[in-house]
Parts: sequence; structure tokens; C-alpha cells
Amino acid sequence: MKKRIFVAGGAGYIGSVVTNELLKSNYQVTVYDNLSKGHKSSIPKNAKFIKGDILDRRKLERTFKETRYDAIILFAGRIEVGVSMEDPGVFYLNNVVGSFTLVETAIANGIKKIVFSSSAGVYASKDTPLVETDLIGPASVYGHTKRITEEVLSWYNKTLGLRYAALRYFNAAGATPPDRGEAHQPETHLIPLVLQVALGQRKNIKIFGNDYPTPDGTCVRDYIHVLDLASAHILALKALDKQDNLVCNLGNGEGYSVKEVIETAREVCKHEIKAIVAPRRPGDNAILVANASKAKKILGWKPNVPDLKDIISSAWEWHKSHPKGY
Ligand SMILES: NC(=O)c1ccc[n+]([C@@H]2O[C@H](COP(=O)([O-])OP(=O)(O)OC[C@H]3O[C@@H](n4cnc5c(N)ncnc54)[C@H](O)[C@@H]3O)[C@@H](O)[C@H]2O)c1
Repeated sequence: MKKRIFVAGGAGYIGSVVTNELLKSNYQVTVYDNLSKGHKSSIPKNAKFIKGDILDRRKLERTFKETRYDAIILFAGRIEVGVSMEDPGVFYLNNVVGSFTLVETAIANGIKKIVFSSSAGVYASKDTPLVETDLIGPASVYGHTKRITEEVLSWYNKTLGLRYAALRYFNAAGATPPDRGEAHQPETHLIPLVLQVALGQRKNIKIFGNDYPTPDGTCVRDYIHVLDLASAHILALKALDKQDNLVCNLGNGEGYSVKEVIETAREVCKHEIKAIVAPRRPGDNAILVANASKAKKILGWKPNVPDLKDIISSAWEWHKSHPKGY
């Protein structure tokens, strides 16, 4: 029988791509999403869709009583680092209380496996690639909500036997044209913003800070293709049959500065992309680059699209065909 996966936040950028890959790998998928940020049209046709909130315990109870799920993947949550520094309450409620409500309801209904979207934002900044045992020190409320949820999962593991994988993504990027791409509202991620400039939808791209302790003064990040994230989720689901907890980085191990990303986008799009320097944004680390050896060793994971140019090319293809998003 096909395994049933409950994908909370499956109408979002990463969740919709993972849902599609799960279906291709012969899983049965239910997407549960309040559509506060996601797009109904991004949900693959063969997935069942339930409009609901992870804060709505009653609805979750009903849903879990109706169908027996083998595992949950938890993408649902707010993601804008800057907003989290202005409105922390929204983030603690949605990401911490929401995740807790989902975990608690899952356990009460016999669901014992969760794969959770954590983030590089849990770490303190470091000049060299981060390993999972490196210093935890979120620079933002967003990162803190991810860390608290990891700890909640860890305690449910120790006390009630919840099996969990916390996957610490670095910067998700790229698209799966023609169907799915990155269209957050508001968009706060560098690559789609840069592509909006190339499409003439924005006058310029703001570089938030050029005085960081990095080679060119701008922040350095590790970009990972969304399809490579998807393959890691499927491997993590399988790994939870054998091991009961897992915390893994997912990144390419290569850091690119904001200026380098803009320059690469200029090459890909063959457009002048005007950049202006703006003050630093609260909550940004200087450098976040992954050492993903653990995911490679334990999950047998291997990124297939590691090259930044290829990642941006896939995003550009999608953006050109979806200039208004979904
Ligand atoms: N995009 C990245 O680079 C990145 C990096 C690290 C971690 N993550 C994490 O991965 C997850 C997915 O990110 P994304 O870029 O796809 O974001 P997204 O905003 O596109 O997707 C999140 C989805 O969750 C839904 N949602 C939000 N709150 C909800 C709630 N209370 N109940 C039900 N549904 C709710 C939204 O409608 C949306 O469809 C997030 O948890 C994010 O923190 C993303």
C-alpha cells in the first residue's frame, strides 16, 4: 500500500515541489495549508488538498481521525526574517505554537514521524562551513522559532518516541519550470528579487549592508536547488524507518556573496541589473555556508544542481514564463 504523507504548508514554494516529487515517488499526499502565503494552483493535481491552519487543533484532530498518515512534513510557517524582527509575536504564534499544535495532535493520533523544515538561521555566523554541532545562536526571531521547534521535537522524541528529522536548509533557490517557482508575497529572497529587476518589475536591487566582515563586504550565503531539497526529504522519510532522530544541514558547501549572486544573474539574464547599497537589515548573519557531509553520509544524499548559474537559470526560466507569479 502507498504510504500516506501529510504535507503542512504544501502550497508554498518548497512544499509544492516536494509534494510533486513525493507523488512521483509513489507516495499518497495530502496538502494542508491555510493559503495565507501559498498558491492553490501550485499544488499538484494528484494531491488531496485540505484548507486548514496548523493552529486549528480541532480541524487537525478531525483530519487525523479520518485518515491514517504514516508521516508529516512540516513546511507551514512564516519565513520573512525582517518581518520577524518587527513583529515577533506573529512568528512565535505561527511557527512555535503552530508547530507545537501539529506535533501534539499528531502524537495524540498515533502519527510518529515528522520531517521538519528547519533553517541555517539557527546558527551563529561563522567564516567556515557550519556543521550540525556548531554554535547555535540565531540572529533573528525567525531563527529562534526554528530552534525552539527543533527542541520541542527533540523532547517529544525523548519522552514519547516521536521520530523526527530536522533539516536545516540553507538558501532554497531555483525552480521546476514550467510548473513551479518561487513567488513569495512579500518577496524577501535575493534571487527572485534580482530577477524582478531583470524583468523590469523593480528599478533596482537593494544590497543590505556592504560592511560585513566578508571578502566584498556583502553577506555570504549557500544556495541549494529546491529539487535537491526535495530529494533530501524523501531520503529523510525513509531514514526515519531506521533511526529515530536526525538533524542535518542541506546546502552545497559553497558561499556566494550578494554581489556575486547579482553578477551571476546578470550573466544568466543578459540584463543590466541595477544594485544600490542600503543599510544592514536587522537579523542577518554575515556568513552562512553548510557543511552537508552528514546528510551525504547518513541519507546518501547528493545535490544534482549544485552550480549557482544552473540554479539561477532554472529560476529565470520560470520567472520569464510567470512574470506575475502564480
Ligand atoms: N525558502 C528558504 O530559503 C528556506 C530556508 C530555510 C528554511 N525554510 C523553511 O521552509 C519552509 C517552507 O518555506 P517556503 O519558502 O516554501 O515558504 P512559503 O511561504 O512559500 O510556504 C509556507 C506555506 O505555509 C503556509 N502556512 C503558513 N502558516 C500556516 C499555518 N499557520 N497553517 C497552515 N499553513 C500555513 C503558507 O500558506 C505557505 O503555503 C518554511 O518553514 C521555512 O521557514 C525555507
